[in-house]
Amino acid sequence: MSAALRPPSGSPHARLWGIGSYRPARVVANAELVEAIDSSDEWIQQRTGIRERRFASPEETVQMMSVAASRQALERAGVDARQIDCVVVATVSHLLQTPAVATAIAHELGTDQAAAFDISAACAGFCHGISLAADMVRGGSARHVLVIGVERLSDITDLTDRGTAFIFADGAGAAVVGPSDEPGIGPVVWGSDGEQFDLIRTREDWRDVLAADAPVMPHLVMQGSAVFRWASFTMAKVGLQALDRAGVAPDQLDCFVPHQANMRITDAMARAMKLPETVRIARDIAEQGNTSAASIPLALDRMLAEGDARSGDTALLIAFGAGLAYAAQVVTVP
Ligand code: UT7
Repeated sequence: MSAALRPPSGSPHARLWGIGSYRPARVVANAELVEAIDSSDEWIQQRTGIRERRFASPEETVQMMSVAASRQALERAGVDARQIDCVVVATVSHLLQTPAVATAIAHELGTDQAAAFDISAACAGFCHGISLAADMVRGGSARHVLVIGVERLSDITDLTDRGTAFIFADGAGAAVVGPSDEPGIGPVVWGSDGEQFDLIRTREDWRDVLAADAPVMPHLVMQGSAVFRWASFTMAKVGLQALDRAGVAPDQLDCFVPHQANMRITDAMARAMKLPETVRIARDIAEQGNTSAASIPLALDRMLAEGDARSGDTALLIAFGAGLAYAAQVVTVP
């Protein structure tokens, strides 16, 4: 007869305890990019809402930016690094294939050999990480989880590509997820549409790169209009589902923090969801560009800093991108 195993037991609920972010120092205005792609500041602002973005310096590595954002999140959460049981890093631009950058970050932060791994869900990565973290806390495999979204997309962006050069940017955001007496992270609505796998991707895999006469970095390529249509309409439905599953009516929502992909997508989603005018909407993309997995924590942290979000607010997060992968949940702002 097999032995009866003791079941895992966690906290009844999970919530965000603290959030932090890191923006690279160098500001890159549209004017710096337009010549190489025969574009204009006016076109970029009109089509995307982006005025400027940040590009990381060689010293602002994925690890460095992650550690800076994480220290801020830990301090605000009042959690010591040694209390972190797991570090989850969402990124597609840590260019060392293995080991996971999460392990180096966990070590540099001074965790007590926390479990650490990277996840690849592109722009949807941060919300995937929050969902995993909430389940770990509730399931008993971790008490405190550090979730990081970080990108150096400037490394994998072709600055001569008219379809992507003006969109992507660099930065990091982090959140501490921990136990709670009340639900602070609602049910996730997530999925993927692999039929549209090719809409956003790196152009080649490493074997193709090495087989080429003149190897170049595998850059991101995107069929922008198709992604735009998918995001604007399908994601609004996903957002409404996340609200419904959390038992939150649109007029009970304080903040909407979508992935910062394009200001027009944000506006289209808000319209399609019929969000009341009282809902404060994250618009960090104007100064930060599209930082993929980092965009939601960067945007939420800025809303907190500028008073557009307050502790205890109810916020809807929606992340979407390559895969096409997506994830949405309602959270209580820490
Ligand atoms: O983060 C992951 C998810 N990513 C996204 O959600 C991004 C979604 N897609 C987008 O944000 C938009 O599709 C872009 C901003 C990338 C492109 O905007 P668009 O309105 O879809 O442009 P388009 O490719 O349909 O091109 C429209 C026009 C064309 O000219 P005509 O044929 O109308 O005369 C293009 O030649 O704009 C022209 N165009 C440009 N003009 C100046 C295309 N790219 C540029 C450019 N500068 N960079």
